[in-house]
Amino acid sequence: MRIGVLTAGGDCPGLNAVIRSVVHRAVAHHGDEVIGFQDGYRGLLDGQYRTLDLDAVGGILASGGTILGSSRLERDRLRSACERAGDMVGEFGIDALIPIGGEGTLTAARMLSDAGLPVVGVPKTIDNDISSTDRTFGFDTAVGVATEAMDRLKTTAESHQRVMVVEVMGRHAGWIALESGMAAGAHGICLPERPFDPADLVTMVEERFARGKKFAVICVAEGAHPLDGTMNYGKGDIDQYGHERFQGIGTALAYELERRLGKEAKPVILGHVQRGGVPTAYDRVLATRFGWHAVEAAHRGDFGRMTALRGTDIVMVPLAEAVTELKRVPVDRMDEAESVF
Ligand code: F6P
Repeated sequence: MRIGVLTAGGDCPGLNAVIRSVVHRAVAHHGDEVIGFQDGYRGLLDGQYRTLDLDAVGGILASGGTILGSSRLERDRLRSACERAGDMVGEFGIDALIPIGGEGTLTAARMLSDAGLPVVGVPKTIDNDISSTDRTFGFDTAVGVATEAMDRLKTTAESHQRVMVVEVMGRHAGWIALESGMAAGAHGICLPERPFDPADLVTMVEERFARGKKFAVICVAEGAHPLDGTMNYGKGDIDQYGHERFQGIGTALAYELERRLGKEAKPVILGHVQRGGVPTAYDRVLATRFGWHAVEAAHRGDFGRMTALRGTDIVMVPLAEAVTELKRVPVDRMDEAESVF
């Protein structure tokens, strides 16, 4: 069998572990040939690929990023890829394509699958917002980075009696903010799923200071929004990949709190540091299992589906099911987090 693999969308720790696992299972166990397309779907469209043998994936298990490179695909290029989907199978002689990516990549995978490409998807995103899988690899690493950052910020905040507003990634789903905020014992957590009132945060900080606690850490997801009319904060426009451009909620909220409280409030934007560097052991294991199961699915002809974690098992789920709606933080998880503020 000849298997094509590519990584697309925002990178995330664990991508190399999937690539390594695909190559090991396919080449060493099945005697397959594996080719890796360069820079996501762009490599598939432009015919940029290289053979991946066991040597090519040596020593990459613990490395961040992706040895194949990644890119986001513009919508018009995706449409033209779908028109050529049938031809591409013959062009590259591939019997299966394994795209590893987030919601955008898996939506494209579904469209390519519908257009005739034999596709087995592997979900990834630090945001953990893909439906149908309990976890995506990369998330555990990102939560660890954000938690460590807040642990560190607490000590400096306390020394200077400051409020720290820590902005973490998460456009439409606040999983990173929820879990890192809980793990770090943040005093406030703002999620895209529930608009917040800055007045509540002001009250929380004032009550803490009244009790003799001279600092506060607030964890805010980049996609969090204030309740309408509570603070000056606009909605961003949409970029060429269909994503909202954010206006910098961390910075806006820190300035707002400083103004209302008359205390120093500092914004800390963690940004892409959450996506870089070595994956945790958990993410390496999940990524390795996804790679193994994707190859097995290809050999069974189980196309148009993706690997998913359900409990402790890896199962195959239809791509269609995975991309119809994002997995967002449910109300009961928000209630749990609030009870420990
Ligand atoms: O989807 C993953 C993600 O890391 C989001 O959390 C974040 O908003 C986005 O990607 C950033 O993307 P880019 O790499 O284009 O800045």
